Amino acid sequence: MLRFPDRSTSIGSAINAYLANQSQLDDGAVHLLFVANRLEKRSEMLRLLASGTTLVLDRYSYSGVAYTAAKGVGHLPMDYLKSLETVLPAADLVLHMHMSAEATARRGGYGEERYEKLEFQQKVMSAFEALRDERWAVVDASGTIEAIAEQVAALAEPVVRAAREGAPLGRLWD
Ligand code: TMP
Repeated sequence: MLRFPDRSTSIGSAINAYLANQSQLDDGAVHLLFVANRLEKRSEMLRLLASGTTLVLDRYSYSGVAYTAAKGVGHLPMDYLKSLETVLPAADLVLHMHMSAEATARRGGYGEERYEKLEFQQKVMSAFEALRDERWAVVDASGTIEAIAEQVAALAEPVVRAAREGAPLGRLWD
């Protein structure tokens, strides 16, 4: 399991300072830091996949594209954002853990980081909707852990099986 942003690297610590409102960065520049934070895990991900390991990623390029696109920065269109990460492996399955922005806002600790604002989260949600494709499944994340686990297992098991049986590894945004 890997999680993005990986805050343990030097790029990740710059991202962490930005998210904690301890630094200010241009939207385009911080986007590139999030991209670089994924690219620095590229060879490790490819090595693990080649050895038959199933990777579970907590956020990926989908969050990168959606969060930056949600800022409505005109000079950073989605196609440009996607083009920066086409050297990374595609996900076989994207599980969007969906909860309404209002329900998320009621969770403990919400509001501490930069993007944790209701209005912005609603824009992120619309951007995610624009990214949905045939690999994308929505999981109702408002239920119990058991109910969520059941949905995730039902969606993931056939995909993991297909990968074991030799389904080819694609490239992101192909
Ligand atoms: P986290 O809460 O899952 O640690 O994610 C940190 C925040 O960073 C969250 O608000 C989503 C945002 N984010 C981006 O803006 N771009 C990205 O590429 C990623 C992975 C996360």
